[in-house]
Amino acid sequence: MFNKVQETVKFLKEKGITNPEFGIVLGTGLGSLVDYIAIEISLDYKEIPNFPVSTVTGHSGKLIYGELGGKKIVAMQGRFHYYEGWTMQEATFPIRVMKFLGIDNLIVSNASGGVNPKFSVGDVMLISDHINFMPEHPLRGKNEDLFGTRFVDMHEPYNLEYIAKFEAIAEAKNIKIQKGIYLALQGPTFETPAEYKMVKILGADAVGMSTVPEVIVAKHMKMECLGVSVITDMGIEGKPEAVSHEEVQIAAKTAEKKISDLVTAFVASF
Ligand code: HPA
Repeated sequence: MFNKVQETVKFLKEKGITNPEFGIVLGTGLGSLVDYIAIEISLDYKEIPNFPVSTVTGHSGKLIYGELGGKKIVAMQGRFHYYEGWTMQEATFPIRVMKFLGIDNLIVSNASGGVNPKFSVGDVMLISDHINFMPEHPLRGKNEDLFGTRFVDMHEPYNLEYIAKFEAIAEAKNIKIQKGIYLALQGPTFETPAEYKMVKILGADAVGMSTVPEVIVAKHMKMECLGVSVITDMGIEGKPEAVSHEEVQIAAKTAEKKISDLVTAFVASF
């Protein structure tokens, strides 16, 4: 895997991707951030050696290099989910590549179901911490010491200074944001009422199907992470409501501008 990462990095550097400072995973909810990027290079995943190719609707599958908030960034438009059938190592491969392109700061975004009754659909939730409830682990197997250590410290999965900075930016812009714990399940089914209840009892504020493997791999390589989630539906006890992928996408759309403005200002603040 280490050699594969180096091969991909070499290809991307030859294409002109040089000295990016931030990596951004554009999940459902942050797709429109691409409109804020002064794009210099855009590559289909299928053009990139060793890259998996994503399939789920709403994720187009492009690696983008350009400028955002005055900084060079690499953005993944479309991520790889475990539920699509990728192994955890495949799903997190692009994060490895980002690190070896020279990136130390990762911004991950996603859509999630809220289980905190104080939340509403369309809220932006800053991820303060996560619970890994996926059935597989991206660091399972022989450790690759060139990436990081066997036993990875996770006491600060999401950088606390970045969280404080993001909150200050939101306050200055008069944008109300939430903060909470994200729990990852494998999907692809949305949760049953009993499962939403379980998520809440376990201490989380929102539930989704991504992000956690990427952050684990980022922490393996000592990257600093910021996570933002759009609450696209509510899994509230006693009031079960239908959830569909289309609804999730529509709800995420309403928060896209807010979240894109905040992330752009965040990147610019460095
Ligand atoms: N559950 C899991 N993943 C999700 C949800 C949800 O309710 N909403 C958006 N992604």
